[in-house]
Amino acid sequence: MKTKSQKTKKAVQKKPVTKKSAKKSPSKKTAKLAAKSSKSSKAKGKGKTKSLSKQVREGFETIAAGVSALFASPATDLVSAIKKDHEGLRRFIKVMKDTERPMAERRQAASLFSSLLKSHTIAEEKAVYKPMESKSDHELTVRIEEGYVEHTAADRVMADMEKATEADVWTAHANVLAELVEHHLDEEEEEMFPLMKKQIPKNLEPDLIINYLDLRASTQTKITDENAGVLNSFQ
Ligand SMILES: [Fe+2]
Ligand SMILES: [Fe+2]
Repeated sequence: MKTKSQKTKKAVQKKPVTKKSAKKSPSKKTAKLAAKSSKSSKAKGKGKTKSLSKQVREGFETIAAGVSALFASPATDLVSAIKKDHEGLRRFIKVMKDTERPMAERRQAASLFSSLLKSHTIAEEKAVYKPMESKSDHELTVRIEEGYVEHTAADRVMADMEKATEADVWTAHANVLAELVEHHLDEEEEEMFPLMKKQIPKNLEPDLIINYLDLRASTQTKITDENAGVLNSFQ
């Protein structure tokens, strides 16, 4: 019987192609077009008029499938593995902030966002921040400390958002959470990762990626046996 680590290693080495990701490979452009509902009132082909809510709902499914497809290709280095999560988080944030969409859909996006953010931050702290703390780069250490603080702040706002029942209160929390996380992702990518890259010995990078993906797999709540940690469950 294979261990979890062996399974993850296999996922890193081989290109996993699921039926779902093979079937659906929507581009950003497709998602944008699907979301732009007001000017295209007639359904293509059959000439029937689609309701606004129907078109918006399809737009979200396209976005969710797009996030799933992100994880179908193997990560070649640690930063690109982390950036896949970041890209997924940014796509869900767009839906959460979109007041044109029904609340149910924005909450559904928030649920997927929360699941992804929780497993991302756990994996990032244990498999990335922790080993990098021991490096003697003062600027990197400060960036890592900032990262911990921002993770904790996002956790707090996310917990309050999940408790909010009133739409305006939920929206206020979602907006603050979105700003906080967008700022955090930008700062990691622009300031922390360039410093971190200089500190990662090439021979250790495969182990770091495997540790990161293992932790993602063990903490991700919306997974299947096939994808082992890859977000692709959208109910
Ligand atoms: Fe982070
Ligand atoms: Fe991150």
